[in-house]
Amino acid sequence: MKKNIYLIGFMGTGKSTVGRLVAEKLGMEFCDTDAMVEAKSGMTISEIFDEMDEEAFRSMETDVLKEITEKKNLVVSTGGGIVVTKGNMEIMRQAGSLITLMASPEQIFERIKDDKGRPLLQVESPLDEIKKLIFDRAPFYINTDYIVETTEMSPSEAAEEIIRFVGNA
Ligand code: S3P
Repeated sequence: MKKNIYLIGFMGTGKSTVGRLVAEKLGMEFCDTDAMVEAKSGMTISEIFDEMDEEAFRSMETDVLKEITEKKNLVVSTGGGIVVTKGNMEIMRQAGSLITLMASPEQIFERIKDDKGRPLLQVESPLDEIKKLIFDRAPFYINTDYIVETTEMSPSEAAEEIIRFVGNA
């Protein structure tokens, strides 16, 4: 049984797409904290933010993370803000490798500008909000075992880089 691989990083850096590829190539199971929160609550992320609030979402996200972490052999794609909840970095660090996917704010904006499913970016100036949130979260995003800069990479190139890192770690 392999220890878990946690992919963290801002929205639009490719965590889910890349995570699926890594899991497939390493014969591990893939899971996604956002999808699990949606399945458990029966609500979309946008509905949770609208009808409840961000705090309620963060609490569900941490519950899901704890549940996941009882298992092994998983590649876990996490929501971009999972790092801000106190204790979550430690939970992930203890259970496996922690890998950050990065991309430039402009590239992130291009990738997600037509997606209405990210409540934190439904603001007047999403690019400014992306920059602000990345700045706030940078101390967490840079404090991991490995960072992949995906701005000019395809998902399969990013997956290959992660597999190389994990193989040498
Ligand atoms: C969030 C990122 C989203 C989702 C929610 C909040 C964030 O996940 O968890 O909209 O705070 O950055 P993705 O990073 O998978 O888009």
